[in-house]
Amino acid sequence: MNYKIIACSLLLISINVKAQQSKIEQKVDSVLNLMTLQEKIGQLNQLNAGDVTGPEDKKNVNILEEIRKGKIGSLLNVKGAKITKELQQEAMKSRLKIPLFFGQDVIHGYRVIFPIPLAEAASWDLDAIKLSARVSAREASSSGIHWTFAPMVDIARDPRWGRVMEGAGEDPYLGSVIARARVLGFQGTSLGDLDAVMACAKHFAAYGAAIAGRDYNGVDMSKRQLWEVYLPPFKAALDAGAATFMNSFNTLNGIPATGNSYLQRDILKGNWGFKGFVVSDWDSIKEMVAHGYAKDLKEAAQMAITAGNDMDMESNAYEGHLAKLVKEGKVNIDHVNDAVKRILIKKFELGLFDNPYRFSDEKREKAELNSLANKAASREVAKKSIVMLKNETGILPISKATKTIALIGPLVKANQDMRGFWALSWGKDDIPLSLYEGVRNKLGNKTKLLYAKGCNINDSVTTGFRDAIETARNAEVVIMAVGETFDMTGEAKSKADIHIPGVQEQLVKAIIETGKPVIVLVMGGRPLIFNYTATNAKSILFTWWLGSQAGDAMADVLFGDYNPSGKLPITFPRSIGQIPIYYAQTHTGRPFEEGKSANYRSAYLDVSNSPQYAFGHGLSYTTFKYSDINLDKTEIALNDTIKISLKITNTGKYTGEEVVQLYIQDKVAQPVRPILELKDFQKIKLAPGETKQLVFYIEKEKLSFYNDDLKWIAQPGDFEVMLGSAADDIRLRNAFTLKD
Ligand code: GLC
Repeated sequence: MNYKIIACSLLLISINVKAQQSKIEQKVDSVLNLMTLQEKIGQLNQLNAGDVTGPEDKKNVNILEEIRKGKIGSLLNVKGAKITKELQQEAMKSRLKIPLFFGQDVIHGYRVIFPIPLAEAASWDLDAIKLSARVSAREASSSGIHWTFAPMVDIARDPRWGRVMEGAGEDPYLGSVIARARVLGFQGTSLGDLDAVMACAKHFAAYGAAIAGRDYNGVDMSKRQLWEVYLPPFKAALDAGAATFMNSFNTLNGIPATGNSYLQRDILKGNWGFKGFVVSDWDSIKEMVAHGYAKDLKEAAQMAITAGNDMDMESNAYEGHLAKLVKEGKVNIDHVNDAVKRILIKKFELGLFDNPYRFSDEKREKAELNSLANKAASREVAKKSIVMLKNETGILPISKATKTIALIGPLVKANQDMRGFWALSWGKDDIPLSLYEGVRNKLGNKTKLLYAKGCNINDSVTTGFRDAIETARNAEVVIMAVGETFDMTGEAKSKADIHIPGVQEQLVKAIIETGKPVIVLVMGGRPLIFNYTATNAKSILFTWWLGSQAGDAMADVLFGDYNPSGKLPITFPRSIGQIPIYYAQTHTGRPFEEGKSANYRSAYLDVSNSPQYAFGHGLSYTTFKYSDINLDKTEIALNDTIKISLKITNTGKYTGEEVVQLYIQDKVAQPVRPILELKDFQKIKLAPGETKQLVFYIEKEKLSFYNDDLKWIAQPGDFEVMLGSAADDIRLRNAFTLKD
């Protein structure tokens, strides 16, 4: 088809979209002109009407009455086609019949639970990650939900912080491409489609950098660090069309994000041109008083609306004080009008003014929730999220002909834990598959399964060891399952000690000492420390929390029906003392090299600088050879592109997937640059003996960074390009120069 036709049709589409947009804006203006100040403020007011997902704060509010008076614009934690329809009917009794928004934390699944987001990030499979969000949106939207408070895109480099489970790990590039995949998954082809929900990029911003990894703690960093590490995934979410943002509980350099106009007005709505709306986090407006930033709720309300916070989740600050503030001239009515317009535009875009009940369809809900297809999707994503940390003597995969297998450990028969944090509760008829059930499903009754719990997660006693050792002795192979409980990681779940709790590692030791072949599955929502196991177990899988189909997904990997392909999206420390530890470190003036003298070097006296497991680490049942790296030029001008090609060969006997990671190093720069930075990756599948040629491109964008004046620049000089299987497993290198 000739390019002129394409160009014209694209132009027509964009004109049409703009026309649609201005049509909606005209409608919004006409509604706005009818609204009283109180009705405007009602649209900025969001209350909880379901599960409590924050500090309990009893309000003697008659929600139905408030809805009928037009004093509530959105409810959170209400789920179900029936109840959302009933509540929407109450909203239709208000003077202007403005429909409600229903928001929910659909973080990794709605009815069918998917792996926790950090586990999905370990898949490095953007299609799988998008599928997870797509299925979640299909289920939630069939249940009357318009809006998910996801994706959480906070970069996290401190595993003491419990919400590390909710994001995509430590790296801005990986975090950005995953943020985009999740937004596209949630919002589908176009906002307003019946199977789509509004996404919400959160928590804006830098919440993951809480000092000491303690949740809600202050964040203090240079603007350069903010722009270079913590903002990119938010910009990626915005560029992917995220309809909403949520700000964060933390202060950033002394200013609470909720009252931070640098973040919300200068960057988000100004520099980035964000047209959606910003919701506070739970009570975060009120918390500006606790921060010592506002003297009372009224001042907090004034600060929040002025700084660009559009909707008030749960603190009733706007409902209680905004009208007075406007009348006293302390709040500019334009800020109120702008916030209301942003919200009403989204209500029009979702078609709620035309039909407020369009998402509350019980028939569709019944057909969609928990469908076999959705469960199959969850299993697909789960198996891709498993990371094989070690398989020294090839015990894995286990032969299905094995006669007797012992399953030992406190998480072998764990069901609810498989859901992970931020999984909605559906009561007794919604039980995730345990590891034990997955192995039983896989092997049927031809293999004898023995079981011993050995200990509880937090035990300090070893009374269960004897039985466990006996059980192990009666088996050909032992599968162990140790780790945390699901609620040891998540919101308000920071831990000063991230070792596997209790006597579990002693149990691993006792079982390894039986001399039986032992595979250890470590389960948790964050990087854990398990030094004994890491050193002495021959085979280790990190299985995170894998959701509804956890057991079957683990069995797929254990018995070779799926060759593990996961790679760590976050560094696993050897010691708590190393934290914060992440791969993109700078050289220092006294770089230390393992094996060399540490004298006057940047090193610890008592532990290596190296992590237990590096960013990007993950093994396969097969092996891959990297070869034939070629750069089509070794000198480029600022606007040139380098084409890098290489070959990957599967040199083992299993079909497998490899995540080929491309890192760069800017050898000399002001300010200094990390020793390596992830700039691209490709996940490929190869049959035994198969070779594929891959091509990557490097252009100025990938070489750029923020200088001290916050200018996004690429500095001429020498660069190294590295291709590898992990940050500490670089297979090929080459060099090039960026010319003036
Ligand atoms: C919580 C979380 C936020 C969530 C909100 C509503 O405190 O910080 O991520 O979306 O409240 O549940």
